[in-house]
Amino acid sequence: MKKKLFLLASALFFVSFFISASLFADSTVEDVIKMENKAYTEHKKSTCEFQHKKHAEERDLKCGICHHDDKGEPLELKMGDDVQNCIACHNKPGEKPKGKDAPKLTPAQKLEYHAEAMHKKCKKCHKTYNKKNNTKAAPTTCKGCHPKAG
Ligand code: HEC
Ligand code: HEC
Ligand code: HEC
Ligand code: HEC
Repeated sequence: MKKKLFLLASALFFVSFFISASLFADSTVEDVIKMENKAYTEHKKSTCEFQHKKHAEERDLKCGICHHDDKGEPLELKMGDDVQNCIACHNKPGEKPKGKDAPKLTPAQKLEYHAEAMHKKCKKCHKTYNKKNNTKAAPTTCKGCHPKAG
């Protein structure tokens, strides 16, 4: 009996350890992020792979170009700081509703949709960059970021 209790206690300990680890592990970021978010129950497109390290370090983009606070003001960050995922605030999965019955949204309401916020942030810079450098290296087509059909 004692042994069983011990096993149960240690199992609980490990479970809580992993839960808290996943809650508080916000300070690490993978070099390449597969942008899968649990809020999505379905995907129309293949998941975008985002070269975080390449963007943040090799391209030397300031963290605050992409990361901002709850008022949209750029954050001053360094690697190791706690950072909220975009979906914490842009928390509606997918793109805004489309079609003739779709409600009219204000720009702020549109930004609540995760994919709208991503598209705005990612494509704007890519377009400017391509134009300035006379290239197509920064992807602006669907396939460029969602390589597989579907
Ligand atoms: C070009 C845009 C961009 C730049 C520049 C950028 N990031 Fe990010 N970062 C992102 C995106 C997008 C995500 C979220 C990806 C996802 O949905 O999982 C992210 C995620 C993170 C995360 C993980 C958050 C989590 O989900 O737990 C950390 C930590 C982070 N970034 C830190 C930084 C730091 C520090 C810098 C500057 C040195 C930086 N980032 C620069 C776009 C950027
Ligand atoms: C703490 C909450 C919060 C987080 C986390 C957050 N945002 Fe925002 N975001 C906002 C708010 C608030 C605004 C301003 C909305 C407005 O102006 O109406 C905004 C505005 C934006 C805009 C429109 C303005 C612009 O910069 O073009 C984009 C695009 C955007 N966010 C993308 C992102 C991306 C990408 C991430 C993750 C790297 C992210 N947001 C993380 C709250 C957040
Ligand atoms: C401030 C500018 C900027 C922002 C914001 C930005 N990118 Fe980029 N991105 C670039 C540049 C510059 C390139 C590379 C062009 C080249 O190779 O010459 C690039 C290239 C890419 C590529 C091609 C693979 C690679 O990394 O070389 C992908 C995919 C990509 N970006 C995805 C994203 C996504 C997803 C976001 C939004 C979360 C994003 N980018 C936001 C500047 C930006
Ligand atoms: C610069 C990169 C980039 C380009 C270009 C881009 N997307 Fe996205 N898209 C993203 C990111 C990042 C997300 C959020 C993470 C994810 O779901 O992959 C996203 C999410 C989505 C979603 C919601 C998730 C899903 O799979 O249902 C849809 C739908 C979508 N994009 C459609 C499109 C279409 C259509 C185009 C072309 C008109 C396009 N995207 C072009 C980066 C891009």
